Amino acid sequence: MTGAPASPTIGVFDSGFGGLTVLRALIDRLPHARYAFLGDTARLPYGSKSRRTIARYAIESAQFLVREQGAEFLVIACNTASALALDAIRDAVPVPVLGVIEPGADAARAASRTGDALVIATDATVQSHAYTAAGTARGLRVLEKACPLLVPLVEEGWTNHPVTSEVIRIYLDELNAAAAAQQMQPDALVLGCTHYPLLRPLIQSTVAVGVQVIDSAAAVAEAAARSFPTLPAASPHARDTEIRCFATDSVEKFQQLGSRFLGRPVGEVGLVDLGG
Ligand code: DGL
Repeated sequence: MTGAPASPTIGVFDSGFGGLTVLRALIDRLPHARYAFLGDTARLPYGSKSRRTIARYAIESAQFLVREQGAEFLVIACNTASALALDAIRDAVPVPVLGVIEPGADAARAASRTGDALVIATDATVQSHAYTAAGTARGLRVLEKACPLLVPLVEEGWTNHPVTSEVIRIYLDELNAAAAAQQMQPDALVLGCTHYPLLRPLIQSTVAVGVQVIDSAAAVAEAAARSFPTLPAASPHARDTEIRCFATDSVEKFQQLGSRFLGRPVGEVGLVDLGG
């Protein structure tokens, strides 16, 4: 028998709908795969929780995608879950699991000439120092900063709001001062949280001249594509890509805000109960 290889189902998981920015990059890169996306919106934010809780939530979510949606490959779009629970998720499901930290660090390494990079992320991600470890392994000096106010501002839809703009300015001023105190010359800023790509225009207009803003979504999609060498890369029919979205809380809110993250309507969203 001949013909196109069967389309694999790629499961994409985030604590909320911010990970749809990663799904968007995956669809652009691998439009012939099928996608099942789960946003654990009932239990968001993960970024202020302990490693144990994050791992439990992330494992339950990953198991839903594998057992109930038939995912053959998982992308953990959530930086916090990738930073704190990647090994635990890998131990819990029988499919390959890709996180976002390593591809993000690769992208920073490729972008930086000075070897100094900044990372902004949630509290939990920063406390794990996963980005520092990944950067050090690549010969990068990394300085991380938690920006806990940014997720709620994006959740509120304030992606182009003067308050958000001012909050970003304050965080980046503090980060730059800390970098200067360490004689660093950063020329790359990694957006180490699913929500931050929505703030990219505001962040871009606030960073120092010469600093490249890095959204790891494209790097993650590229890394995922290496696992599917036989899938065609581009398609004029990418809008036909099969996407099934699930959320653990209000599907209406997911539909409304999710479309903004995905860049197209998210369609029907299934409600899932993963427990408390
Ligand atoms: N998805 C999380 C991340 O990328 C941000 C939202 C949360 O705190 O759950 O770190």
